[in-house]
Amino acid sequence: MARSDHSINSADIFAKAHQFTAADEVKAKGLYPYFKPLTDTDGNVVVIEGREVIMAGSNNYLGLTNDTRLMEAAQNAISKYGTGCTGSRYLNGTLDLHLELEEKLAKFMRKENCVLFSTGYQTNEGSIQTIAGRNDIIFSDKDNHTCIVVGTLSSNARTVRYHHNDIAHLKKLMEREDASTGKIIVSDGVFSMSGTLAKVPELVALAKEHNARVYLDDAHAIGVIGEGGRGSASAFDLLDDVDLISGTFSKSFASLGGFLVGERSVIEYIRHHSPAHIFSASMPPANVATVLKALEVLQEETWRLERLEEISNYMRNGLKEHGFNIWTSESPIIPVVIGGLMDCLEFWRDLFDEGVYANAVVPPAVPRGQSLIRTSYMATHTNDQLDNILDAFRKVGIKRGIIDHNGHSLIEV
Ligand SMILES: Cc1ncc(COP(=O)(O)O)c(C=O)c1O
Repeated sequence: MARSDHSINSADIFAKAHQFTAADEVKAKGLYPYFKPLTDTDGNVVVIEGREVIMAGSNNYLGLTNDTRLMEAAQNAISKYGTGCTGSRYLNGTLDLHLELEEKLAKFMRKENCVLFSTGYQTNEGSIQTIAGRNDIIFSDKDNHTCIVVGTLSSNARTVRYHHNDIAHLKKLMEREDASTGKIIVSDGVFSMSGTLAKVPELVALAKEHNARVYLDDAHAIGVIGEGGRGSASAFDLLDDVDLISGTFSKSFASLGGFLVGERSVIEYIRHHSPAHIFSASMPPANVATVLKALEVLQEETWRLERLEEISNYMRNGLKEHGFNIWTSESPIIPVVIGGLMDCLEFWRDLFDEGVYANAVVPPAVPRGQSLIRTSYMATHTNDQLDNILDAFRKVGIKRGIIDHNGHSLIEV
């Protein structure tokens, strides 16, 4: 059947795909920012379209993806165990390495027990789905990551969404519910688009008042903030008061996979009931060995966390001084709000031409009219690289009418 025939046949389940032209239209204008292949990388500088550009859009917070110690650990694990586990943790897919990592992470996070998943996404989706049952209620921040949303949708619990970081709203919603119902508050620890921290003390206080549990997704917080990189609960000295904390290995830990820590019986329950854990193959040996080494480096080389904090402050101040709106960032994730979708893509392209790669984030990931360039930083960025990023932003910001020469914003967002 010819393509044009498809597009008029709305009874065809493929009709929506055949009518999807937005990506092709943006590509034709040379403004398509997604799926760009990196043909070389040392972490800080990557090659895209045959040109070297500074990476300002990676979640490689500790700068460990190209660390020779991690690469060697991965290679040794492949030599000993092979390339994959070919089965779930439940059956043939558990290595001594998985158990060692679970033990070390539980100890690091000062919790009783830990369970690994094969991605950070599966960790949240699988844990929330499992722990929230038919008669329970999940209170979920409206800006939570998609994997949390999917976890709430696939659970049998009722989900109540509260306005982003709005404790008064959450309180009102919690007060409406029956005291005898099981309740859990779920929030990103650091929100992935804005770089804002959850109001952990207020969440904990409300949870205590209403006999609820607290679950934090610390994908962008563990190995980033808190004492020794223990994440958002630790940043408020509340590790003991947060019941469940999840993390990912795809960011600070320079690998792939995820984990959940908490009290022994709860983790054991999830280990034995979560479909995402039971019916998916376990983390490959190289990934586990990489994380074990990253955890060691995180604890030994404390300068990485210090440098990351210093750099984040430097870039927040620098971008603000240039007149950019960086929302409410409090972490190494620093958004630069541009406004309209096409304005954002044009800004992205100019920035790339100036030698900087960052991420264009457009609706539905952000509200309409608030498209942004999401920047994120690594402990290994050099001062020169940071200044180059600031210079590129200033140049493009002035060219595109986002800021003026005197450091004032020219847009309303
Ligand atoms: C807040 C948050 N949670 C979970 C995930 C999923 O982690 P992963 O990409 O490791 O599967 C992400 C990744 O983007 C995230 O930003």
